[in-house]
Amino acid sequence: MMNVNIGLLGCGTVGAGVIELMRRRTHKISDLTGLTPVITTVLVRDLEKPREVSLEQERLTKRPQDILEDESIRIVIETIGGIEPARTFILAALQAGKHVITANKDLIALHGVEILDAAAKAQVDVFYEAAVGGAIPLIRPLKESLTANDITDIKGIVNGTTNFILSKMTTTGADFEEVLKEAQDLGYAESDPSSDVDGLDAARKLAILASIAFHTRVHLSDVQVDGIRNISAVDVAYAHELGAVIKLLAIGADRDGELTLRVRPTLIPKGHPLAHVSDAYNALFVRGDASGDLMFFGRGAGSLPTASSVVADAIEALRNISISISGRIGSMYLGQKPVTQNLQDPVRHYIRLSAADRPGVFAQIAGIFGDASVSMETVLQKRTSERGADIVIVTHEVPTQVLDAAINRLRESPSVLSIHSVMPVEREEQA
Ligand code: NAP
Ligand code: HSE
Repeated sequence: MMNVNIGLLGCGTVGAGVIELMRRRTHKISDLTGLTPVITTVLVRDLEKPREVSLEQERLTKRPQDILEDESIRIVIETIGGIEPARTFILAALQAGKHVITANKDLIALHGVEILDAAAKAQVDVFYEAAVGGAIPLIRPLKESLTANDITDIKGIVNGTTNFILSKMTTTGADFEEVLKEAQDLGYAESDPSSDVDGLDAARKLAILASIAFHTRVHLSDVQVDGIRNISAVDVAYAHELGAVIKLLAIGADRDGELTLRVRPTLIPKGHPLAHVSDAYNALFVRGDASGDLMFFGRGAGSLPTASSVVADAIEALRNISISISGRIGSMYLGQKPVTQNLQDPVRHYIRLSAADRPGVFAQIAGIFGDASVSMETVLQKRTSERGADIVIVTHEVPTQVLDAAINRLRESPSVLSIHSVMPVEREEQA
């Protein structure tokens, strides 16, 4: 059986998982593809660093050219992460006629078009299933299994770190900072957690998924992003009282060719399937006009879960090599769609504010909502201090634009001391 040499860029969490899984599955891969994968060379920064996987020292290198300029290497797997030097290495590998597999969502979100174009030009494959949702098959179902559909909605939890933090805040009642520290100690959150907690990681993943699902080019700047830093234990407790949990939702919608793309903390009713996606798990709802609603669920990160997707991509590349084809499924781009952030769709909203605790104040607040045509569904009032009361309002469905006008009026009201949180509330019955 013919060997196919593979160069691995990076041997950290994902790279080590790829070596381990490739080793376990070599026979099966040979049986499936008629080719035997051999990871001949592994690029790292530090040759002396202990590795999570046993590896002959002579396979390690610090010289990228040992992979990029080795003509015997047909497939390059990139698990370095970040933009540079990963981008330069991938482009060099593609130009040298090598198939590329990457787990790098930052790079695909920012430079996906450049990379897919370079792969098409070089007539090689580039696969990135692991870039979104770790072990969960998302890219291939959207690119292959669901292409007969017009996809109107993608909606989900695509960042494990924030889901772990919000789940812990819900079960323990602890505040954000306390749980963030625990997430860092457990190795979920990085020492600089901003990309996760400020919603950027989820926005990158949404940009990748929406580009494929809606056949357009979504730029990261098209995604409206709110993170979870301002979610307090008080909001989590009120959400519980209202029969909901707070999750960081990534939402993409295509309404007759106009897109809405948002990452926002959202109240999810406890009966909703996404409310049960806890800890570091991820889930994505997809709505197709023919398929109806689909839900994908699983581990969004981790060494072997992520390697599961990377190695499956490598098997796909081997299959293509075995029958001498490539570039079967490249870009899904069919035309540019505008991102209008449709503010007309009616949505329920949760609002928490502090107001002066004196007669007539509540009537004033209700008056502002009434004048703005915002109908209140639920109201909770708790006295929190001598000066003020915490008021929580859940509105009936109202266009965000209309709600924003009411919030602006509230900010101007002398009775309102501060507005702490405004979050959408998902419908119970709908993804
Ligand atoms: P990691 O543990 O930090 O590993 C990165 C590896 O790349 C290390 O082996 C490092 O070498 C090597 N490296 C970094 N910069 C390099 C450079 N300039 N030249 C040569 N080697 C370099 O990262 P990871 O968690 O495996 O993540 C890798 C990629 O997978 C990222 O794109 C990430 O977004 C994506 N991803 C990760 C997960 C996950 O669960 N971790 C899930 C899905 C996707 P040394 O070991 O010598 O320092
Ligand atoms: N930081 C990411 C997360 C890792 O928390 O989901 C997987 O992409």
